[in-house]
Amino acid sequence: MRFGFIGDIVGKPGRALVKEYLPRLKEEYGLDFVIANGENVSHGFGINRKNAKELLNNGVDLLTGGNHSWDKKEIIEYMDEMPILRPLNYPLGVPGSGIGYLKSEKGTLAVINLMGHYAMPQSQNVFVEILQALENLEPNDGVFIDFHAEATSEKQMLLHLLKGKVSAIVGTHTHVGTDDLQIYQKTGYLTDIGLTGCRDGVLGMAVQSPLKRALTGISYPLEIPKECKEIFQMVVFELEEKECIDAFKIKIYDKDSVFTTKAWHEL
Ligand SMILES: [Fe+2]
Ligand SMILES: [Fe+2]
Repeated sequence: MRFGFIGDIVGKPGRALVKEYLPRLKEEYGLDFVIANGENVSHGFGINRKNAKELLNNGVDLLTGGNHSWDKKEIIEYMDEMPILRPLNYPLGVPGSGIGYLKSEKGTLAVINLMGHYAMPQSQNVFVEILQALENLEPNDGVFIDFHAEATSEKQMLLHLLKGKVSAIVGTHTHVGTDDLQIYQKTGYLTDIGLTGCRDGVLGMAVQSPLKRALTGISYPLEIPKECKEIFQMVVFELEEKECIDAFKIKIYDKDSVFTTKAWHEL
């Protein structure tokens, strides 16, 4: 089984990059599924139904979320009927689900969306919740986790809690990719995949407002740049009998600079 994961897709530039590259890459690399974090899809904050459908029509099979899952309130009522997850460890009773299953003739992939604690909304203990959730999963041929967290330490702790027990863990939320793609005791791991969208602003947003805020302390509305330098980032995992046997990351800068990085193996 082979699948791709795209991190925080930021605004219209991010959606346009998915449309431009994903259908071709999905075929070229023989991906059974593509999962993408959708918390910043609609003008940088949340995801509306129209934009979710657009991504699902362009090759994304399942959308994950994070602290911005709820910014476009209209999506809440569609969370149960559309393939959209929100972090599992939100308090009991919050709408939506943190676990989804993708099925093909190659098998079933369980996808779990988690959220960290540092600088994040109130939630249940993520480390306790995931251990319980893993015991109650439906039969599957692999488990993938999108860990939406600010702190790199929390992400590394999750790796050490779950190494050898899940197929792959990738961090999202910081919008800045880290350089540590590896296969650690049969678990594919990357601390943060980084955004897909504009690479020359601040976390995918235009630089003017954050800079004015930095200089004055006064906040201004964040905007998606009308024009920008682009980055598309996807990590690909290959599983065999639930274990990660290969992983690589594809980065595309603007139209024609494509970089592929292989994971290192840690026994
Ligand atoms: Fe984000
Ligand atoms: Fe986030």
